[in-house]
Amino acid sequence: MSHSLVTMFYIIATILFILSLSGLSNHETARKGNYYGMFGMAIAILATALSASVSSYMILIIALLMGGFIGTKAALKVEMTQMPELVAIMHSLVGMAAVLVGYANFMDDSLSLEGVEKTIHEVEIYIGILIGAVTFSGSVIAFGKLSERISGKPLLLPNRHFLNLGLLVSAILLGSWFLSSAETGGGTFPLLLITIVALAFGVHMVMAIGGADMPVVVSMLNSYSGWAAAATGFMLSNDLLIVTGALVGSSGAILSYIMCRAMNRHFLSVIAGGFGTASGGEAAEIIGEVQPISAEETAQLLLAAKTIMIIPGYGMAVAQAQHTVYEMTKLLRGKGKKVGFGIHPVAGRMPGHMNVLLAEAKVPYDIVYEMDEINDDWGNIDVSIVIGANDIVNPSATDPNSPIAGMPVIQCWKGKTTIVMKRSMASGYAGVGNPLFVQENTRMLFGDANAMLQAILKALNA
Ligand code: TAP
Repeated sequence: MSHSLVTMFYIIATILFILSLSGLSNHETARKGNYYGMFGMAIAILATALSASVSSYMILIIALLMGGFIGTKAALKVEMTQMPELVAIMHSLVGMAAVLVGYANFMDDSLSLEGVEKTIHEVEIYIGILIGAVTFSGSVIAFGKLSERISGKPLLLPNRHFLNLGLLVSAILLGSWFLSSAETGGGTFPLLLITIVALAFGVHMVMAIGGADMPVVVSMLNSYSGWAAAATGFMLSNDLLIVTGALVGSSGAILSYIMCRAMNRHFLSVIAGGFGTASGGEAAEIIGEVQPISAEETAQLLLAAKTIMIIPGYGMAVAQAQHTVYEMTKLLRGKGKKVGFGIHPVAGRMPGHMNVLLAEAKVPYDIVYEMDEINDDWGNIDVSIVIGANDIVNPSATDPNSPIAGMPVIQCWKGKTTIVMKRSMASGYAGVGNPLFVQENTRMLFGDANAMLQAILKALNA
């Protein structure tokens, strides 16, 4: 295929990727956004495969079949709750690809660049390997933490900020060493050293982050993987890869910023790590009596209520209770109750986790509210049902000594009655106790969320 034809297909793919991103920003258009992305990627792969840059179709077909097989198998097997792990491990592959392309470019003798062009190419190689190695090792650690193969607790080495600073300074020094040695045909040793330094930096950066800051790290690594892909695009002189990488890099950075705002955390303090260690004093102890309730009593409360707010969290995903909860919602709405869903931006284990589950159960979008839309309206809510949520409804976020101090939460305790559905008194992802469970107007419905909702449904139908 001629160069201009390839460029034309690349432009079409770029437009489709942009349409995909804008589609994904809204529930109603998300499905269409996915189709745009898939179509754009198919065009991108085909145009690249048919371009003059391919020297061996045999290798290309083997790589396509292998990648396609592994990708399909992983996507079919993965549970919704494991999605962030899958995303993390995929980011690590983008990072690894950037490192490998960097080394392949460095060893490629067929390129005969001179002067400034040669220096620019070497800078591309250096930056590509640097970002790629940080993305690779950081994503592998993030995968380990999210899949609970590595402890979620932050690893806080003494003088860790100086350690990070030292790694940054050595990256700059090694860069200048690499460029000067590459002038004379060398450079392998500083390149190997920077790979090791970058790998260590990625490990250290993510190991120092724990608990509730993990979602930000995943989207930050998403951004890094975009920049790694863009660097690969520069090395391979592939415009589409540069544009796509920049789109992923910038959208990941914007998402990280939005999430930091949702958790009231400063981006830099998240990156510097050490969640839950910044506060000086002791977090307040949780004193009070737990008031359990049965499914039948819950059904009575719901029948007596006019307005009901459902707050789903990670436990709803674990119990796969979204279909039963919608069954209950339909029944209650049929009885003239006003039922809504309140969604916290970081409920569950990935951005939009609850929205995806509710959409799967076909819950209409117009009864799904964001946290900010409901937090001023609790005076009008008779009963709120917290389904497998914990951190996102923790009133101790207002305690300056709490590890989650300042994180905006859904203030359901301001409603008339709150029913919390979970299996035990265990803490949530951030490992923090929750005083909501012992509030005067809280009732605890202990058990698996799906089983409890089935029991409520039965009692409502009785
Ligand atoms: P969590 O605070 O993790 O609480 C979930 C609760 O669900 C647990 O306390 C657990 O209590 C309960 N649970 C688990 N399985 C259950 C089941 N089968 N039936 C009933 N209850 C069950 O969840 P959350 O409130 O959604 O908050 C999310 C947390 O994850 C935040 O700290 C957030 O920062 C973090 N995080 C979010 C993301 C994103 S992007 N959303 C990514 C990573 C981490 P029992 O064990 O007692 O049942």
